[in-house]
Amino acid sequence: MREIIKARNLTYKYPDGTKALKGIDITIRSGERVALLGLNGAGKSTLLMHLNGTLRGEGELEIDGLKMNKANLNKIRSIVGLVFQDPDDQLFLTTVFDDVAFGPINQGLDQNKVMERVKDALEAVDMLWAVNKSAHHLSFGEKKRVAIATVLSMKPKILALDEPTSNLDIKGCKSLESLLINLEQTIVIATHSLDFAWRVCDRSVILSSGEIIADGPTRKVLTDEKLLTSIDFEIPLSALLNKV
Ligand SMILES: Nc1ncnc2c1ncn2[C@@H]1O[C@H](COP(=O)(O)OP(=O)(O)OP(=O)(O)O)[C@@H](O)[C@H]1O
Ligand SMILES: [Mg+2]
Repeated sequence: MREIIKARNLTYKYPDGTKALKGIDITIRSGERVALLGLNGAGKSTLLMHLNGTLRGEGELEIDGLKMNKANLNKIRSIVGLVFQDPDDQLFLTTVFDDVAFGPINQGLDQNKVMERVKDALEAVDMLWAVNKSAHHLSFGEKKRVAIATVLSMKPKILALDEPTSNLDIKGCKSLESLLINLEQTIVIATHSLDFAWRVCDRSVILSSGEIIADGPTRKVLTDEKLLTSIDFEIPLSALLNKV
């Protein structure tokens, strides 16, 4: 499979001087599902925000063969659908419909196609019932699901999801899991749920203080007791059950 995300020596410093990424090297191939794991502050969100150019660091970054630069930014934004960690950063229009239709309308799709995309995306996250509601009147978990729909409706080649399961109930987690497993897109997911990573992602990358300290098949990385203990992680339950 071809390389769809390529970062070389990607480094990012926030305006206050915090070095959040310290030379990230990663190559992700089309169709891979990759978990980004690590403790609070490890740099997961910062890395995800680089994938669609929300943040711009130093070093090289190529998305689907396009160098990350101003000229390619719009094109890259249509390739990478980023779901922010906080849904309030994603939902800003009057109704759920408007938020989910925003991307497809910008892509120039006709009205019928836009309606179809909105319906499919909201159905996929079990939120069609809220199509005419204001996102501000939804619970946090419901907002999170609508935020995911705003990206699904664009059918981007790359889905970058920041903590997609936070605040989702068990049913929501399970249905998101089966949704993601059945997508053909490249998916990068920052998550604290090692079980979710185990079930959804074939590859796991562990970040620590802005650096990649492990990168490999999920089944290998998430059963490496020594590695996991070194960062206060535990082998996920799914892995233990799988071993029996
Ligand atoms: N706007 C900001 N200004 C300054 N420093 C920031 C900012 N946002 C994040 N940081 C810092 O950058 C580092 C990486 O943060 P980041 O949000 O990428 O971590 P994370 O792995 O996503 O953590 P979490 O699991 O809590 O979501 C942390 O040290 C954090 O304090
Ligand atoms: Mg984060």
